[in-house]
This record gives sequence, structure tokens and C-alpha cells, in this order.
Amino acid sequence: MLVLAFNGSPRPRGNTHRLLTTVADEMGRHGITTEIIDLGSQTVNGCSGCGACRRRQDGRCAIDGDPLNQWLARMQAADGIILGSPVYCAGPTAQIKAFIDRAAMVACVNGDLFRRKVGAAVVAVRRAGAVHTFDTLNHFFTIGQMFVVGSSYWNMGFGREAGEVSQDGEGLQTMVNLARNMAWLIKCIRLAGDQVDIPPGRREVVTSFIR
Ligand SMILES: Cc1cc2nc3c(=O)[nH]c(=O)nc-3n(C[C@H](O)[C@H](O)[C@H](O)COP(=O)(O)O)c2cc1C
Repeated sequence: MLVLAFNGSPRPRGNTHRLLTTVADEMGRHGITTEIIDLGSQTVNGCSGCGACRRRQDGRCAIDGDPLNQWLARMQAADGIILGSPVYCAGPTAQIKAFIDRAAMVACVNGDLFRRKVGAAVVAVRRAGAVHTFDTLNHFFTIGQMFVVGSSYWNMGFGREAGEVSQDGEGLQTMVNLARNMAWLIKCIRLAGDQVDIPPGRREVVTSFIR
């Protein structure tokens, strides 16, 4: 069982990484491997709106000069996906927002590639904007028919300089509880297998507001 945790921070070993590591360590205690992928320190282009992903139906983005297509393939093989980001100007970093725009679009128009996978957002923040950032990250999961996991608080940790978030006891506890809930849900989904009917999640009706 595998979870991919994308770190949207350009500081690969900063506070977001510390929070993701806390989740990964706890998940490991429950038999689930979590791989942290440094997204924010790489160039991730924004969506060009070309529509090729809808036309070609190959599960890929037409922009091929960055790692997105490679990540999309790996995400399809994973049981869960975590999106982590620091708060930058009251929102997620530009890198992870670019990832969300393109990955969500490719997934939605190619039959909901991540449907029924488990997802969670994790946020590192100095002072303000964490809830907005958390909500934005969660949009990725909820438009794609994924299951969002909760914890004992919204998944955030407070700190400014790299490592400071380690002093946020409640933040770390939130990550541990998140990991336990995520591991439990992944195991339940695996156990359900084909014993529980899978509901159809069709996208036949598409209206641009009313038409
Ligand atoms: C460009 C930039 C913008 C930021 N904007 C905010 C903000 O709006 N609100 C806030 O509380 N912290 C803000 N911060 C602080 C970071 O969210 C905080 O230091 C976080 O712990 C960094 O996580 P990291 O170590 O994973 O990069 C900002 C930091 C930078 C570099």
C-alpha cells in the first residue's frame, strides 16, 4: 500500500516536509509506505488550456517538459495522495497550484483517474491563510471523486523558519491522527474489494452553468 505525498514548498526540508514526515512515519507504523515527492523545488508549468487532455484521452498533459506526466502515472498506482503546501500570500504555492490545475483537469476528463483513492491536504503556516490554503488543496480531491480524510483538527502546523513547526505539539498530533485515519480508510477500501458494489460516477451531463 502506497501513499504519494507531494511537498509544494520550494524549501524541500522545511516545515511542510516536517509535517509530511510525521504523517509518513505514523503511516509506516500501520503498514503503509509514504513517499514524499519534492514538487515545489521543481519547475511545474501552469495549464495552457489547450484541451488536448480532453481530445486525446490518453491520461496525459500535452506539456511534456516537466515531471507532471510521470507523477500522474505514479498517482494512478497509489492508494492515497497527500498535497502539502506552505501558505504563500494566503494561498498555496504557485508550484502546487499549477500541479492541481493540470492534474485535476487531466484526471477529470479521462474518466476520473483517481476516483475512490484517499486524499488529504497538509499546510504549514506562520500566521494566517492556512484554512484558505487547506480548502484550495482539498478542491483537488473533491472534484475527482476521492475520499478526503479528517483528523482531530484541520491539517496544519505553525512555524516560520524551517523546523519550527516541530514545536507545534497540536499540529504534530493532528498529523499523527490524520495518518491513523488515512491508513484505516485505505485498508477498509482494500478489504471491501469487490464485496461492496462500486457506485457509478458518471459525467454524462455537462452544463456550462445552465446550458
Ligand atoms: C513568499 C512567502 C509568502 C508567505 N506568505 C505567508 C502568508 O500569507 N501567511 C503566513 O502565515 N505565512 C506566510 N509565509 C510563511 C510560510 O508559510 C511559513 O514560513 C511556512 O512555515 C513555510 O513552510 P516551508 O518551510 O515548508 O516552506 C510566507 C512565506 C513566503 C516565503
